[in-house]
Amino acid sequence: MFVKSYGCQMNVYDSNRIKDLFLQKNYETTDDIDSADLIVLNTCHIREKAAEKLYSDIGRINKINKKKSKENYKLVVAGCVAQAEGIEIQKRAPSVDFVVGPQSYHKLPEMIDKEEQKINDDFLPNEKFNNLVFNTSNGVSEFVSIQEGCDKFCTFCVVPYTRGSEYSRPVQDIKQEVSKYLDNGVKEIIFLGQNVNGYHGTGDDGKSKDLAYLINTISELDKVKRIRYMTSHPIDMSESLIKIHGEDNKLMPFLHLPIQSASNNILKKMNRKHTVKSYLKIIEKLKLSRPDIALSSDFIVGFPGETDKDFDETMKFVSLVKFVIAYSFMFSPRPGTPAFKLPDISKEVKKARLSALQSLLKQQQSDYNKSCIDKKMEILFEKKGRHKNQYIGRTIYNQSAFIESKDNLINEFKKVKISDSTDFALKCSS
Ligand code: SAM
Ligand code: SF4
Ligand code: F3S
Repeated sequence: MFVKSYGCQMNVYDSNRIKDLFLQKNYETTDDIDSADLIVLNTCHIREKAAEKLYSDIGRINKINKKKSKENYKLVVAGCVAQAEGIEIQKRAPSVDFVVGPQSYHKLPEMIDKEEQKINDDFLPNEKFNNLVFNTSNGVSEFVSIQEGCDKFCTFCVVPYTRGSEYSRPVQDIKQEVSKYLDNGVKEIIFLGQNVNGYHGTGDDGKSKDLAYLINTISELDKVKRIRYMTSHPIDMSESLIKIHGEDNKLMPFLHLPIQSASNNILKKMNRKHTVKSYLKIIEKLKLSRPDIALSSDFIVGFPGETDKDFDETMKFVSLVKFVIAYSFMFSPRPGTPAFKLPDISKEVKKARLSALQSLLKQQQSDYNKSCIDKKMEILFEKKGRHKNQYIGRTIYNQSAFIESKDNLINEFKKVKISDSTDFALKCSS
């Protein structure tokens, strides 16, 4: 079995669950697509490029010699493109045997066994989570989906259509999944959701619980050492969540809080439901609660109607707030979303804006990393690096850090001095 992830952390989580479902049926995983008898392409629909990658990969698979006879393998398209374009995929790529959406992939083993149903795009999050298998992927840090879907309907975004409406898993189910990972030695838990801070799962007393409650509950487990969560929406940044950042040492001082644009005019057109002022207020409160909190964000440049003045406001905002890392994208018109019909602005303008924003963000990331030199920081090491005796881990602020060591450091905490930095990572002295 060969499984490829194209999308966000939730897409990676789903790929791990798909692997677990088939490992339970005695399949083995391989990195060699050529020899695989089951290929699962777990797709992303967020931007046009992400979706187009699917079709070029299918073309490549069709050209592999061993794949020329359909008797040799089954090809599955899963994920958000599967949900959005199920029937088109089968028309455009007849070599695809099965299509499953992000809320129905637990059905895949049965679909392959029975060969009756070729497409399943039902929204069944509750049934799905009750039928998944949870095994660790790297034994150090584990993603745990606690919330799915989105009811926010930002005008540019496909997620409400591909993942369905907001669903939160019960506290007990999450606790069980987390405990399994912790018993296997995992030290860091990263809660995932398209609107993770909108979490409102049922507690043991039958009442609705928020993310702060869930963090508190999981933090009480001895074996968990670090907790993170992503991705958050500004309007769901509650007082209880802000407060817990100052109270719980296991909750890492890092927050990914997408703003998308710092022009109120554009935020309104995007249907973001927050303003620049309300976003700044959240940051102010967060810093009062946890003064060293490191901030991250997402930006879209070139949204329809974005003027030079709108873009300038975003640049000024970034200069003011200073992000330790941030992700920025050119607006990509997505079929089926309200912004798809709006007049798109020119590619040249979008490109120029993206390049200006990215160089400012890169500079901020580099400056932040430099400011860490000579400080002692605690790193949780996750994996081996590309060089001999090199290990890679993360600081509490989510920066990537590397060290040379003859001892195996995987799954170890080490408090080390930062000796140097690059734009994207920290170097630790041994
Ligand atoms: N739920 C999160 C939020 O509220 O910001 C993020 C969801 S999305 C998976 C990740 C990022 O992709 C978004 O924050 C946005 O910056 C970007 N994105 C979404 N739709 C886009 C589009 N049509 N064009 C360009 N970027 C897009
Ligand atoms: Fe997409 Fe907006 Fe929902 Fe985030 S909040 S997933 S950007 S619709
Ligand atoms: Fe992509 Fe779906 Fe995630 S569209 S970003 S894989 S929720």
